Order: sequence, then structure tokens, then C-alpha cells
Amino acid sequence: MAELTNETEKSAKKVCLSGIQPTGTVTLGNYLGAVQNWQNMQNDFNSIFFIADLHALTVRRDPSELKQTSLSFFAQLLACGINPEKSMLYFQSQVHEHAELAWILNCNTYVGETSRMTQFKDKSAKHADNINMGLMDYPVLMAADILLFQSDLVPVGIDQKQHLELTRDIAIRFNNLYGETFKVPEGYIPPMGAKICSLQDPTVKMSKSDPNPKATISVIEDEASIIKKFKSAVTDSGSEIVMREDKPGVSNLITIYAAIEGKTPAQVEAEFAGQGYGTFKLAVGEAVAAKFKPIKEDYERLLKDKTFIENTAKGGAEYASYIAQKTLKKVKKKVGLISF
Ligand code: TYM
Repeated sequence: MAELTNETEKSAKKVCLSGIQPTGTVTLGNYLGAVQNWQNMQNDFNSIFFIADLHALTVRRDPSELKQTSLSFFAQLLACGINPEKSMLYFQSQVHEHAELAWILNCNTYVGETSRMTQFKDKSAKHADNINMGLMDYPVLMAADILLFQSDLVPVGIDQKQHLELTRDIAIRFNNLYGETFKVPEGYIPPMGAKICSLQDPTVKMSKSDPNPKATISVIEDEASIIKKFKSAVTDSGSEIVMREDKPGVSNLITIYAAIEGKTPAQVEAEFAGQGYGTFKLAVGEAVAAKFKPIKEDYERLLKDKTFIENTAKGGAEYASYIAQKTLKKVKKKVGLISF
């Protein structure tokens, strides 16, 4: 973790921030849509990444499982290359400023704005027995996460775009009401990999919570299982390996291969021209398995080192809290809360 020096604070580097909910394991979708970009950005930005465990409470969870999954996610992010020497990495619930700012932002957000969010509607339909306040308030907490650190750039997959737009609206509204307070952040949605789809239904996004294990790939999955899942990935009629709207299955595989290998879809199409689906599916599986092999190995080693995880997380939270206090103090003063 970077030292707490004036130099760090005054650094000209821009701030990049993002989070991930600890459910299931980090998927290929999370990796290509977000985590891979976090890893690349940490050299050029003051980077802040966190496990969004407060967000995870919006769906009922088994407490001991949530704790285990949160720790496992921390190790998975480290194994994916998030380097605590370069980035702040912590558990959201250990930095109380997130929740505190969320309350103040709640009072500056309209019910109509959160209730129209697509994810709220989807999750309400999925968890009809538990449409809790947190589920609707989720994007406001996300806005607080982002605005607390005066973030410039938020690297996410396409499914978070609507939440980012709401964050910008809240920031602009607050600035207009109380004077310049928050930086209005930009999203970074990667050109390749912003929406990786399920291997079993390529018309829907790959999701950590998909009950069908054949639909998702985890960054800590073993080689044989990854290859097997790609071999049984749903493809389309015909045999051409081309990126086309009427070929969602093959297009998804082309996207995955291109994002993993750093190629364009056109290059992938040329590489596999005239070859069958079977050959292509195997090649994609092998490329993904090769990418994830060192991640799985690092993960297994890191997970055993509980002291390292604890110290890193504590250090990350302490630093994040120190930075977050500045914005929070400013906000409290602006809205008229007492400070002595
Ligand atoms: P979460 O945990 O659902 O996903 C973490 C990141 O992975 C991206 N992602 C995908 N990208 C491509 N293809 C997919 N199939 C796919 N599935 C997920 C997500 O877009 C996300 O970037 N609300 C956030 C967590 C969060 C956050 C924040 C993010 C909380 N506070 C502040 C940014 C800034 C979420 O639930 O992500």
C-alpha cells in the first residue's frame, strides 16, 4: 500500500475506483468486464478497489458463508493481480464513511430514480419475498462509494452503466444545491468484454448467481473443468466462426477469446476461418484455462495466509477511511451538520 505522505495526497494521478460483490466466485465475466482492467489501471491511477460486502446484504445470505466468500474474494482479487503496493484494497463494511455518505445522498435522491433502475426491477422479480429497502437503495450506496473518493474513472461492465448515470446525476444535483463538492465521475466500459454472456444461454449475461454451473467459468476453476464447459457451450446453427447478431453463442466465444488474447474480433475470425465449432470451442477453453491457471495457484497459496489477508485488508481500510474523511467532512459541513 502507498505511504500516507503529502506526496501521495497531492499526486497528480487521477483516481480510479471500483467494487465487486462477494457472491459465488469471481467469474470470467467479472474478470473481463472489470478486474482485468483494474489490474491494468493500477499503474496509472490512484486506485481504490473494495469487496462490496454491504451491497451483498441486499439479498439474504447465510452469515458464515458471506464471511467465507468475502475472504475468498479478497484472495481472488489479489491473485488476479490487484497489488496492495499499488492499490487500496479493502472490505467496504470496514470503512464506515461509505454508509454515512449514503445516508446523506439518500436525502438527495428521489424514490422514483432508484425504483426505475433495471437491476432493482430484475432483483425484485427474482427475490419477490424480500424486496427490502436496501435493494432499492443499492445505487445510492454505490454513488456514495464512488463520490466519497472524488473518483475520476469507474471501470465496470455494461450492467453498471445505469447506476453510474445515477451517480453522476446525484453528484451534479448536490453540487448545484450546496456548491462544488463532488467530482462528477466517468465510467470506463471496456470495448471488448463489457458483457460476457452465459455459456448455456448466450442471450443473458454470465452471472455469479446462475444456478446452472455449466453457464459460468470461475477464475479459480481447474483446467479440465474449464475446457469441458467450453466444449459444451451452446453455439448457433451453421458452422461459420463470425461475430454476428444472429450468432450470439459464437459471438460470445469470439469476444472471450479476443479479450483474453488481446486481439480484435476480425483477427479471431481470420485465425479460425474454415475451422469448425469444435476446434474453436477447444481453443477458447484452452486460452481461458491458461490465463486462469496461475490465478488459481496464487489464490490457493494466498488463501492460506490469513495474516497477510488480514493485515492487507486492515491497512487498505485504514488508508481508505483517512482519504474518505476529507470528503465526508466537507459534505457534512455543506449540509449544515454540526462540527466542533
Ligand atoms: P458485481 O459484483 O455484480 O460485478 C463486478 C463487476 O463485474 C462486472 N460484470 C461483468 N462484466 C462483463 N460481463 C459480465 N457478465 C459481468 N458480470 C459482472 C460488473 O459490471 C462489475 O463491474 N454494484 C456493483 C459493485 C459495486 C461497485 C461500486 C462498482 C458496488 N459499489 C462502486 C463500481 C463502483 C456490482 O454489483 O458488481
